[in-house]
Amino acid sequence: MSVALLIAVSVPCAVAQGVPPAVAKPDLLVMHNGAPVRNSAAFLEQRRPEIFLDVQENVYGRTPQAQVATTTHVTSTDTQALGGAAIRKQITVTFGDKLQREIHILLYLPAHAAAPVGVFVGLNFDGNQTVSADPGIDLSTVYLPDPALDNVQLAKELKGHIRQMAKPETRGTSASQWQVETIVRAGYGLATVYAGDIEADFATGIGYGVRPLLFKDKQWLPEADGWGSIGAWAWGMSRMVDYLETDPAIDAKKIIAFGHSRFGKTALWAGAQDSRFAMVISNESGQGGASLSRPQRAETVAHLNIAFPYWFCPNYHNYTGRTDALPVDGHFVLALIAPRPLYVSSAIDDPYSDPQGEFEAVVAASAVYRLFGKQAVDVTAMPPVEHPVGGVLRYHLRTGPHDVTAYDWQQYLKFADDQFKQQDSR
Ligand code: GCU
Repeated sequence: MSVALLIAVSVPCAVAQGVPPAVAKPDLLVMHNGAPVRNSAAFLEQRRPEIFLDVQENVYGRTPQAQVATTTHVTSTDTQALGGAAIRKQITVTFGDKLQREIHILLYLPAHAAAPVGVFVGLNFDGNQTVSADPGIDLSTVYLPDPALDNVQLAKELKGHIRQMAKPETRGTSASQWQVETIVRAGYGLATVYAGDIEADFATGIGYGVRPLLFKDKQWLPEADGWGSIGAWAWGMSRMVDYLETDPAIDAKKIIAFGHSRFGKTALWAGAQDSRFAMVISNESGQGGASLSRPQRAETVAHLNIAFPYWFCPNYHNYTGRTDALPVDGHFVLALIAPRPLYVSSAIDDPYSDPQGEFEAVVAASAVYRLFGKQAVDVTAMPPVEHPVGGVLRYHLRTGPHDVTAYDWQQYLKFADDQFKQQDSR
């Protein structure tokens, strides 16, 4: 028998072609003891706590519940921002006592709102000044890769970094991803923080961030099930909510966690832990976020652990090369948001985030939304591009690359309108 024939008869053909075989994903609606979950009460009271603990212990890690000393100062207010369309506030929140960390919230609110407004809350990659060309935004102090390592072929997150004030020419460089004017004209606010204020996004960034504020005495590193930087960033998003709840211009029942890519993963985990997020939006969060790990079509758990060893809890490293042993998968993270509104989106030219895996996770999580009588995604085939599907759990695939675009924001604003209208009419 030829070698080729031997392979063909002895292993499934997917393996013969180099594609890992599809592995059944864990079931959201079967308890650890094997009992089926038949209704929303059983989900909330029995199954959700199991899912939460499994996700916490194996993926993102435990967030310390201790309070840290916090002081808040509104450092500037401009009621004529964006040509009069917006109120811009900047708020500094200082955490800690002897050891201190500061985050700087940039908040835009519609200038002429008749009632308190809903607010999108999200972290930015490169400093608050990148979010809009508005010259009144304070330049963030950012971490930039050490230029001495420019020629070193290594992910920037693994290089050495230098902290410095962002350059003025970076103003507005991410404006298309934030669409601030569209958001305020639609009657919503936007609150954002440079993620590096919470924790710098590189391997030794833990030392510059908030995690040490919550370490126990003589603790140097997180425990095996302790939080990684995604946990720290999610903690920071909850601290933003602490402030937003105190601002009378904001409707605290309409706070939306939003995030793109690594901060999409963060928005999901923030929403899973903190029910004050009334709605969650995951824009192309990919592996370690909305996408399924098991198909291994795109980025894998192994890749995340090598390139970003500090994002997840140390336990997550147990699944490098052992994805099938993970007790959870992307649909578990999504189900933790239920029955609150959740929007997951993918882009066709972003195969690395595995659009198919994100869609399949949404389809699987839909079963949980249906238990609550909520409209979720009923189709099982990937919808055409720019054709959102679902209701309270919604999904779209758009044309174009890994990004946040005007199209994405149009959908998120419409989603928020639809969902909050239903909420208001109850
Ligand atoms: C990397 C990483 C992804 C992540 C993305 C991003 O590509 O591998 O998991 O989502 O960065 O945050 O842009």
